[in-house]
Amino acid sequence: MPLPSLARIPAPSDPILGLTEAFKADPRTTKINLSSGVFVDASGKTPVLPTVIEAERRLAAAAGTKLYRPIDGDDVYRGLVRSLVLGADHEAVTSGRALATQTPGGTGGLRVAADLLRQTGASSTLWMSEPTWPNHPQMFKAAGFAVKTYPYTDATGRRIDEAALLGALGQAEPGDIVLLHGACHNPTGVDPSAELWRKIGDLIEERGLLPIVDLAYQGFGDGLREDAAGLMELVRPGAELLVSTSFSKTFSLYSERVGAMLVIARSAEDAKAVQSHVKVAVRVNYSNPPAHGADIVRTVLSDEALRPQWEAELAAMRARIKDNRAALVAALQARAIPGDWTSIASQRGMFAMMGLTLEQVARLRDVHGVYVVGKGRINVAGFTASNMDPFADALAEVIANG
Ligand code: LMR
Repeated sequence: MPLPSLARIPAPSDPILGLTEAFKADPRTTKINLSSGVFVDASGKTPVLPTVIEAERRLAAAAGTKLYRPIDGDDVYRGLVRSLVLGADHEAVTSGRALATQTPGGTGGLRVAADLLRQTGASSTLWMSEPTWPNHPQMFKAAGFAVKTYPYTDATGRRIDEAALLGALGQAEPGDIVLLHGACHNPTGVDPSAELWRKIGDLIEERGLLPIVDLAYQGFGDGLREDAAGLMELVRPGAELLVSTSFSKTFSLYSERVGAMLVIARSAEDAKAVQSHVKVAVRVNYSNPPAHGADIVRTVLSDEALRPQWEAELAAMRARIKDNRAALVAALQARAIPGDWTSIASQRGMFAMMGLTLEQVARLRDVHGVYVVGKGRINVAGFTASNMDPFADALAEVIANG
């Protein structure tokens, strides 16, 4: 039998990672890549963190083993990540009703969460914000969900439309799944206020919805605990939810594919039962997780000198992104580009929306060699002193003429 004819028709390239491929193939020396969410330092490089280098040195010296790890990952890593996400003293941790699974990145965590829900008979309707990370809809659809959307920002794209968001989620049926961004919303950079998180938590409780929280940027917004505050609003006594977290950005371990999926169940007994289904989801998918990235994270988080050093490295990345935000606002204002850009300075995480048309985005790429995602999502962590002004000039040109 030949391959199906559909397999001979090229699929569209990935809306984010496909742009990096196109960027690499672009021969122009003036090209600027603001597409994929990766942190660069002042020289435009994404260096390995010093704590990671030290952890790798120790791991190499210890010359352990490359034996398979447990299906749900390294026990010590699982415990450390659970405490990092929820706080070591939190009732969900101390009671044992929260359990973490080591996964290949946050994407792997989301897929395990999706498979767990499908294989245990959860609602097949999943609500996600519009806009959201482009991999969310394709992943959850691939896992068998019918995807519905709730509005997120208003027409400016820079403020949450609270009434529209709550109104749409109010239509969800009991048992439906709600996907939320824990912090540093991708692509808008706009996060709910503490008050809105509380209202979302109330609505979830009242309507009996099941949240999945995508927490890929814990520590990139305001701090490790601060960025978990919205999530903690959902971890109410007895409440059940899933969380996916990632160390791609916060440990700069992009290619090591290290993350986790947490199940927070009603009781420790329930959590153990759910964990047995998580192991089935992992086993049929990738069998068991890759070890190296988790070994690094475990080594750093469990060492009393390396852990604060990593927190300082994380704080430095966070501060650099904040500085980039302020510099970007100044650069846009200096060119009198129409629009109110000031809120970009107070947004969180790696991304900001320029609010462009697809034609303007194409013109940025074709005429100026500037690569941005969708309708103008930019990676604010990708700016350096040398690409900020050329970007602002190009944006001014496409907004004036595009
Ligand atoms: C992004 O949104 O750019 C990052 O999360 C990288 C990715 O995997 O898409």
